Amino acid sequence: MESEKGTLPMNEVYNPGMNVYSEIYRKSLEDPENFWAKQAEILTWYSKWNKILDDSKKPFYRWFVGGKLNVSYNAVDRHLEQHRRNKAAYIWVGENGEEKIVTYDGLYRRINNLAKALLNLGIKKGDRIVLYLPMIIEAPVAMLAAARIGAVFSFVFAGFGAGALAERINDSKAVLLITADGGFRNGKVVELKKIADEALEMTSTVRNVIVIKHARNDVNMVEDRDIWYHEIVGDSHTYVEPEHMDANDPLFILYTSGTTGKPKGAVHSTGGYSVWVASTLKWAFNPDEDDRWWCAADIGWITGHSYIVFAPLILGLTSIMYEGSITYPEPDRLWEIIEKYRVNILYTSPTAIRTLMKFGEKYPQRHDLSTLKVLGTVGEPINPAAWKWYYEIIGNSRCPIIDTYWQTETGGFMIAPQRGLGLPPLKPGSATFPLPGVDPAILDDAGKEVRTGEKGYIVFRRPWPGMLMTVNNDDERYVKTYFSKFPGYYYCGDYAVKDEDGYYWLLGRSDEVMNVSGHRLGTIEIEDAIVATGLAVEAAVFGKPDPVKGEAISAFVVPKDANADRHELISEIRKRIRADLGPIYVPDEIRIVKLLPKTRSGKIMRRVVKAVALNQIPGDLTTLEDSTSVDEIKSAIEAFK
Ligand code: WTA
Repeated sequence: MESEKGTLPMNEVYNPGMNVYSEIYRKSLEDPENFWAKQAEILTWYSKWNKILDDSKKPFYRWFVGGKLNVSYNAVDRHLEQHRRNKAAYIWVGENGEEKIVTYDGLYRRINNLAKALLNLGIKKGDRIVLYLPMIIEAPVAMLAAARIGAVFSFVFAGFGAGALAERINDSKAVLLITADGGFRNGKVVELKKIADEALEMTSTVRNVIVIKHARNDVNMVEDRDIWYHEIVGDSHTYVEPEHMDANDPLFILYTSGTTGKPKGAVHSTGGYSVWVASTLKWAFNPDEDDRWWCAADIGWITGHSYIVFAPLILGLTSIMYEGSITYPEPDRLWEIIEKYRVNILYTSPTAIRTLMKFGEKYPQRHDLSTLKVLGTVGEPINPAAWKWYYEIIGNSRCPIIDTYWQTETGGFMIAPQRGLGLPPLKPGSATFPLPGVDPAILDDAGKEVRTGEKGYIVFRRPWPGMLMTVNNDDERYVKTYFSKFPGYYYCGDYAVKDEDGYYWLLGRSDEVMNVSGHRLGTIEIEDAIVATGLAVEAAVFGKPDPVKGEAISAFVVPKDANADRHELISEIRKRIRADLGPIYVPDEIRIVKLLPKTRSGKIMRRVVKAVALNQIPGDLTTLEDSTSVDEIKSAIEAFK
């Protein structure tokens, strides 16, 4: 590489087929009808749509209108007829080194058996099911069993606490919860069933709980409500006819953080989403039939939904699935798995790379990583130093880095180098170019396009098949969040810049959302939870730059009891946040202050708190509505000291 920001020497990863990309991209925008009609053949449909895109109720776009399909059929059944019956769908690796290989046939059997059990429990098409599971084979099985019978699942990441789980159960009105006794993390058991029991006390819609025996920790089974998975899912061969779902029936709801305290349930479609995830995986990574694909994310996040479960299965690939920490028992866990299972494509996050980079080259150098041919990242902008380490040390300067920019709401990749269509010369830190059908623009506050090289808000000017259909139970919030800042355009909430070569560089969130270790966390969500402990009257939370996590969570808290012991207070708040929202939400730093800077209308000025805490100039304070709040800010600043 010439410099950290320079382009790569072309002979290494440049594929002069970039003109293929340009041609396909152009067609996707010029003639979307024909383009998507052809692309939708990536799936098997029971019956074809009568309209590719219905935009009569903007921004509630509907794709492949009238088309009928079933995602579990597409992910599994059809592969049995295509010589993939005995192909591994998943090579599962447990944290303790346990290994399980599940073929497409094995997956098919498990899905049908669970689908049958769900029907026996009275679960019907359209019912909502919450999944609260560790990274075990039963996770994709449950997602696909739900899809098979037309139930809508909502997966809740196993790192969430009881409050967060309850909130999602309540919002989705789930009638069934599928969980496990426990999961493994850093050699310890996370007692999921216990957390689920606490959550269920705050909910009333769940009729039954299916419990998978995995960690073998003791659990309390509630009579008439809780059922062991192995007792209702037999080993025999059952067959459940897949429901013929409408392309616009919801497939799942996935909650994500936003700019208010309450997470939003992004509702994804059956048809458009499936076309999108399978197409984008193929375009960006172009996996071969025999490749071993490893998306090292958690299934509980969109990355796992789209690229551990739906896209790779629809394409009939073999995926690695790993339950556990990437540094357990040692920081060479990823490299060990790559060597042992001869992984060809690794897709992970900048924060994981930075974490592993800290331990030095000796860990990857212990392993033969020569099977790798493509590397990918997601979750936040990748800093050039991490890019370089990934490229040189892990990829041995042979593997292109596919930096994928996207969101829970977009369903799949939006901007990324596309190996399947011809790679551009890569620039470390740039996600490069939009995927077919994606029409980005960068706007200023007035909604005008910025000039090349200028920073602005990234938007998408037209709909794409993988986009969310709405926010669960809240159409208004959908419109307000995504289509009101710049009417008619999908607003991402990120800053970006386009350089003179047309490359997109994503620059982080432009709203009240933090990116902590690739996790998207709402500042207000955490503030609310801190206040909800009853120990604080108010709190201001912001992301503080962190070399490994990207951002660390910093909280300034005004205690209810001014005389409380600070250490005890801080540790109690941390404990309660962990139990309520989950460990990823626990602030890295909590500082107790007497008061917080506010506007006259009572809004806490997070921007000012952040600036002061980071020793920056707090910006323009004269715009405050009330001049006395300047004094408040000043005294608050004093209180920080
Ligand atoms: C950020 C994860 C820069 C961005 C798939 C986005 C990125 C948020 C990248 C979505 C990337 C994700 N470059 N920023 N390659 N990928 N982001 O919903 O701020 O968990 O809005 O989806 O992550 O996070 P989410």
